[in-house]
Amino acid sequence: MPSNSPLKVLVRSIRGWRNKVEHQTSRHRSRSSPGSVWCKKVELGILGLLFVLWLSTFTCRAADENKLEVFSWWTSGGEAAGLEALFSAFKSQNPGVEIVNASVAGGGGSAARPVLQTRLAGRNPPDTWQTHPGLELMDQYVAPGYCEPVTDLYKTNGWDNAFPKNLVASMMTRDRKIYAVLAGVHRGNVLWYNTKLLEANGIKINFGKMTFDEFFAACDKLKAAGIPALGVGDSGIWASAELFENTLLGVVGPQGWSKLFSGAMQWDDPQVKQAIKLFAKMLDYVNPDHSALSWDQAIKALMEGKVAFSSMGDWADGEFVAAHEKEREDFGWINHPGTDGSFIVIADGFTLARNAPHKEAALAWLKTVGSKEAQEAFSPLKGSIPARTDVDRSKFDGYHQWSMDSFAKDQLVASCVHGEAAPAAFQQVLNDVVTAFLVDKNVDNFANTLVQAARESELPK
Ligand code: BGC
Repeated sequence: MPSNSPLKVLVRSIRGWRNKVEHQTSRHRSRSSPGSVWCKKVELGILGLLFVLWLSTFTCRAADENKLEVFSWWTSGGEAAGLEALFSAFKSQNPGVEIVNASVAGGGGSAARPVLQTRLAGRNPPDTWQTHPGLELMDQYVAPGYCEPVTDLYKTNGWDNAFPKNLVASMMTRDRKIYAVLAGVHRGNVLWYNTKLLEANGIKINFGKMTFDEFFAACDKLKAAGIPALGVGDSGIWASAELFENTLLGVVGPQGWSKLFSGAMQWDDPQVKQAIKLFAKMLDYVNPDHSALSWDQAIKALMEGKVAFSSMGDWADGEFVAAHEKEREDFGWINHPGTDGSFIVIADGFTLARNAPHKEAALAWLKTVGSKEAQEAFSPLKGSIPARTDVDRSKFDGYHQWSMDSFAKDQLVASCVHGEAAPAAFQQVLNDVVTAFLVDKNVDNFANTLVQAARESELPK
């Protein structure tokens, strides 16, 4: 016990108290008087109690140190399966550590992120949390000082060459310090379809490329057959915002995209308005119960043949895998109309909390997340491709191989809907303006609101 431990100090004060009592009573009684025996008993009782308390603080702390709290919003079928694969990889390397799965349901993190912010502001952080790189990581977590850098992990594990250098440098690094470890990279601009339903309605897909006209022609055929062509589950409005984001890219292309997010193109540019009009047209083909469904329920509706298409990031692939659907036979995919040659990057990483309650375990977790084994186990279930570029491709199915090829050769652009390309305030206005648009279909209002939001947030004007 250290010489000034609270226990020692207490022991000293009890001894002092006893000496004082004894000193006072000894003036009147002999040392073996009942008063002196009583003092000794009380002292022994208190000391015993303190000893038990002291021991329990040690055992509690030891038990607590063997925990790891991981915060995410991975709760759908494919998401939970992917997370579980990361947990298994971690447990096999760290058998004594208990994982606390602090996930908050809600696609795109719409419910989880506010909970996380409250915890961070209240200095009650989980050890590690899911984050998108780019502005979400930098503005919401690094700038307020909620994260510790993890640069050393890259050095000690030889990761400098394993992860895509540009992505790490441009979206995860500040002042030469790296702030997250990527688990996987999703592709946002994918149009999924029910193969049998399209065949039954005489719709042929020219693999890889689809124009807006071809898409609307297919939608009309389905509409004539009484089938809602486009499955949307926007109980979390981000899912409709994603349909717009994909359509916007289909019109402005990757060059236009960087112009928009660097201020060289305005949000009321004719091209943006054209994208808003196409978005409005798509809404005519959407399932009527869209606002009652979550994104994964919309994918389920596609599997059940209730809708034919869904424009959604490839976490949707995780749902097909979880449901044992067969590639090509049951479901297929293609670039969202007009977006062939581009890849909307929606990457998932994990952070290290400043003052993490279980820092050693958090570092071990990040080491697992960045390991080849964990990345090879996670992405086949989650729908993403591994962030590491040195994985064994033969372990991946047809969709993943397609996405890996696209990541290697296509233009990569950052997602606004998933917090990478724009500040949270702009992302929120986009969600709000999409909510309003579903009702009023007012193109000018949509565009002008975004111009205003770009002016007010730190997005270049
Ligand atoms: C995340 C994915 C997740 C999706 C739907 C995205 O923001 O990056 O990992 O599966 O939201 O919840």
